[in-house]
Amino acid sequence: MKILLVGSGGREHAIAHRLAVSPKCTELFIAPGNPGTFQCGTNVDISADDISSLLAFAKTSNIDLTFVGPEQPLALGIVDAFESEGLTIVGPNKKAAQLESSKAWAKAKYDRYKIPTAGYQEFHDLDSAIEYVREKNTYPMVIKADGLAAGKGVTIAQSMDEAVNALNDCFVHQIFKDAGQCVVIEDFLQGEEASLFAFTDGDTVLPMISAQDHKAIFDGDKGPNTGGMGAYSPAPVFTPDVQQKVMDRILNPLIEGFKRDGIRYKGILYAGLMIDDLGDPYVVEFNIRFGDPETQIVLPKLTTDLVDVLVAISQNTLHEISLDWLKNYSVCVVMAAEGYPGSYEKGRKITGLNDSSDSNSFVYHAGTNQSEAGEFFTNGGRVLNVCAEGNSLNDAISSAYQRVSRIQFDGAYYRTDIGQKGVARLKPAV
Ligand code: AMP
Ligand code: GLY
Repeated sequence: MKILLVGSGGREHAIAHRLAVSPKCTELFIAPGNPGTFQCGTNVDISADDISSLLAFAKTSNIDLTFVGPEQPLALGIVDAFESEGLTIVGPNKKAAQLESSKAWAKAKYDRYKIPTAGYQEFHDLDSAIEYVREKNTYPMVIKADGLAAGKGVTIAQSMDEAVNALNDCFVHQIFKDAGQCVVIEDFLQGEEASLFAFTDGDTVLPMISAQDHKAIFDGDKGPNTGGMGAYSPAPVFTPDVQQKVMDRILNPLIEGFKRDGIRYKGILYAGLMIDDLGDPYVVEFNIRFGDPETQIVLPKLTTDLVDVLVAISQNTLHEISLDWLKNYSVCVVMAAEGYPGSYEKGRKITGLNDSSDSNSFVYHAGTNQSEAGEFFTNGGRVLNVCAEGNSLNDAISSAYQRVSRIQFDGAYYRTDIGQKGVARLKPAV
């Protein structure tokens, strides 16, 4: 089977790795890919949101199945475009992709399907949003640009001033362009966050193993949010009881509601959840794709053939699949460029990548490029995803950081506390 994977980050390196090991995958193409995916298949120089070129490539290369990593092509309608030409592609269509591409659309669906989430109001102009903020006057208050904003569209306002600044950024300075012309203002949810991914063919929902992301740039969850600075899996806050509640109260009602409303959702569901002190889960957001960097530590645990799962989604036979998982812990530490998530330089030489003296660690490429001489250079904000496995969370954490210590580039930055929330939860109470 010839497979096309769309995307170029660490997430796509991890997906490419799983696809390449499948005996069902005879040829793998990654568009545009990165130096890591180059080790798994053939990189194709087409950007992830150039849908017409991707479609032309898939047709001329007789691609049997396409899988999409990032949200932008899904939100732009890549699935509709491929399906209208009779090609097999796994992901939500443009209508269903609004689950991530419009927070107001998604919030209205959660309300309609009685899915637990933060209370909210939707606004289309500055004056009425400010009036609401004034009346509500309860902080923290969460201000979200409606559309896709690469993880930067959310402000947790601690004061009236911060809330008004965030609203001005959307409506007046238009820093998110059209994505900020509608704003959702949400109540602040208390608790601990966790991510759960699931496969769905629109009828059956198969949950994966839980993970916890570390969104803030600095240790202790301080500083601005990033795309994700590290992750570990499974997340101890995500007990079997919490998982059952997530299935009963969130994932199944969502898919059943979509079916009733004639919205056909196929592909990956990414539930970003807040788990409160009572173990009750609330939706913070849904994404329509695998998370990055959580995928880098969730997918390697999947022992079921990923190609079988994707084919089952495309053929509506997911109920015939059962997912098997390794029972170990895994940790991913993101090595980033100095300055990220603000501005940063590219082109710094990376050394130590080939020192893999311990077999339980693995480095996924996120923002790198490779010279003709074979040397690696930084080429993005999040540069490398250093992952390790272990029988305990502590073992996995120390293997990951040992591997990090052997990799160098000027200005390399990483958090030093990845996984520590999990370690604290696993400690026996004294
Ligand atoms: P989102 O892009 O909606 O996932 O928001 C980014 C981050 O902001 C989340 O991962 C949370 O840490 C935080 N956040 C978003 N919405 C809320 C909320 N209603 N209550 C508390 N924290 C939130
Ligand atoms: N790890 C956060 C995201 O993928 O959106």
